[in-house]
Amino acid sequence: MTSEAASDLSVLARAKVNLALQVTGRRADGYHLLDSLVVFASIADRISVAPAEALSLRVAGPFGAALAGAPDADNLVLRAARSLAGAAGIASGASIVLEKNLPVASGIGGGSADAAATLLALQRLWRVRPDPAALAGIALGLGADVPVCLDGRPCRMRGIGEILDPLPTLPQGWIVLANAGIPVATPAVFRARKAGFSPQLCLPAHFADFRALADWLRLHSVNDLEAAAVAICPPIAGVLAGLAAGPGCLLARMSGSGGTCFALHDDAASAAASAQRLSAQGWWARSGRLGGDPA
Ligand code: C5P
Repeated sequence: MTSEAASDLSVLARAKVNLALQVTGRRADGYHLLDSLVVFASIADRISVAPAEALSLRVAGPFGAALAGAPDADNLVLRAARSLAGAAGIASGASIVLEKNLPVASGIGGGSADAAATLLALQRLWRVRPDPAALAGIALGLGADVPVCLDGRPCRMRGIGEILDPLPTLPQGWIVLANAGIPVATPAVFRARKAGFSPQLCLPAHFADFRALADWLRLHSVNDLEAAAVAICPPIAGVLAGLAAGPGCLLARMSGSGGTCFALHDDAASAAASAQRLSAQGWWARSGRLGGDPA
């Protein structure tokens, strides 16, 4: 195996950020129809795989211990591995290491991004390439956010997460992610939502710069799950206020079903200063690029 191939066996699972998330309807089976702008930050977990006879998972990293209390997240990695092995007729195993740098159950797709990264890494390790429709089916079967994480590019996400339209190139900027450290369960947030449904997003053809993107988001979109998440987990309101108070913040909003919130900045220094200030308050906070290379 070449060294290039070896590095392919380590895949970043980037934080997924819903810049906007509108709930536009509800299916008969209870799942909600969404219209969301999804982007990926340079802040990431990492999945590494190596050949082994049996399938195993070791969790490391600052939030590794937190997974003990959130078994679904690590099961998602193993479920992804088993689904791929089943679909591709693979009998051998793999030794998987998950470096958990992102807070768990926090609305930035951690478990979903980990599952997607597992599918990518194991396709390389096992040298299998399921056809795109089969892979998409495996991804959606693992969770509504897994397909968008597997795609990994900024996109508009509709349906329950399976309709993905790539976005025209978005202006690049900086993001601060912050979290009060309280896991928020997605089904509970959807259940607690009281408001009616929002219209579909009406996207402009392009954004002149990052500030124009932030202005458009503030004026023409929302996260429809924010109020319900704050009702379940009031500290989220404090995180939003802390991000909004950071000099240079263009927009502060919650991602996904929470509790991670984000702030958009158009310069690296103010984003880093905001993350430092929020970390000093005892919250998890990181700054990174939106759409740029991993830090
Ligand atoms: O599919 P995933 O595990 O991400 O979703 C967790 C839960 O969130 C679902 O069981 C459902 O209650 C809710 N959900 C929803 N509509 C979506 C995505 C998730 O109602 N589009």
